[in-house]
Amino acid sequence: MNMETKTNDMEMKTRIQEKFQTLFGSEGEIFASAGRINLIGEHTDYNGGYVFPGAIDCGIMAAIKVNGTAKVKAYSLDYDEYVEFGLEEEDVPQQPWARYIFGVCRETIKRGGKVAGFDTVFAGDVPLGAGLSSSAALESTFAYALNYIFSNGIDMFDLAKIGQATEHNYCGVKCGIMDQFASIFGRKGSLIRLNCKTLEYKYFPFDPKGYKLVLVDSCVKHELASSAYNKRRASCENAAAAIRKNHPEVEFLSDAKRVWLDEVRAEIPEEDFLRAEYVIGEVQRVLDVCDALERGDYETVGEMMYQTHFGLSRLYEVSCEELDFLNKLARKMDVTGSRVMGGGFGGCTINLVKDELYDAFIAAAKTQFEEKFGHAPKIYDVVISDGARRL
Ligand code: GLA
Repeated sequence: MNMETKTNDMEMKTRIQEKFQTLFGSEGEIFASAGRINLIGEHTDYNGGYVFPGAIDCGIMAAIKVNGTAKVKAYSLDYDEYVEFGLEEEDVPQQPWARYIFGVCRETIKRGGKVAGFDTVFAGDVPLGAGLSSSAALESTFAYALNYIFSNGIDMFDLAKIGQATEHNYCGVKCGIMDQFASIFGRKGSLIRLNCKTLEYKYFPFDPKGYKLVLVDSCVKHELASSAYNKRRASCENAAAAIRKNHPEVEFLSDAKRVWLDEVRAEIPEEDFLRAEYVIGEVQRVLDVCDALERGDYETVGEMMYQTHFGLSRLYEVSCEELDFLNKLARKMDVTGSRVMGGGFGGCTINLVKDELYDAFIAAAKTQFEEKFGHAPKIYDVVISDGARRL
């Protein structure tokens, strides 16, 4: 990814091993995992709907080695912090980054996996707070590595669920499965459509000739994003519960027909109705985008992205002034598709841009955004890459 923050993998590996040598007097085995993008299908995962993500070529890399003690000794190169913790429930560390590693250990143990003390040094190049799932990259790196090192034989989906449960139980975010799924299952050059209810998935080679996928990072991160996220989820569950009274087959909101939602409009808060209206539309848009991709019809893909942005901004209310501005600018410049990506409340827009428009769009986004908001956005060209792996 021609990312402004992207570091060279070899260089990162060397820095990690050097630090590992200094701290622990040997070398560790190296594991890595990736951040993710999502072409379409936002806030559908915890509603049992479809998502369409892919792993990207920036992520987390870690050196790991069993240390023969009952403690994890962990060093974060990026935070320049060292933390030690035990593996019992009461040993939970305070540092947020260490909680992710601790959570992965605990969730592995809860699933019957073995985890003993280990040394680790890790670093990453996923921009933080940009909606590219740096936390899923961290969880997936350790979930994958522990499974390998301790020969636990946990299957890939359960590795993704270990990361998701870490968010739920140790970090306070009731997220869906998309980020960890993409970060574990990611494959170079392909997006993956996942049905979050049945967990069926399909790889779609993605190489839109004549177009580029580019992220424009507003560099805005809203506080309380995780409590607002959990609130959105609660609204969806509330709407689904109301619909279920009339239609017992509705397990998740994604099972509901639009007319079934209309039937309960008077019974639920208007806010919950609007959230649900967005989700039901979005589930269908993922399928429409997949069909359009198979036809090579990028104009339709792009139009769906704009519809998603409208829904995320007006119905789901997870956009913000800066992201709406970038979306409007994209529309004005005839960019094929553009929308806020990920959980929202800041972060990036994802844009499908014709090659010949790329330079002009990036230049306009930089200058006009800076004029209005006083700081320049960051630009990341998307390269779809492999997910969790041993190097
Ligand atoms: C965050 C969550 C995901 C998903 C997206 C929105 O990234 O971690 O599970 O819900 O938001 O699509």
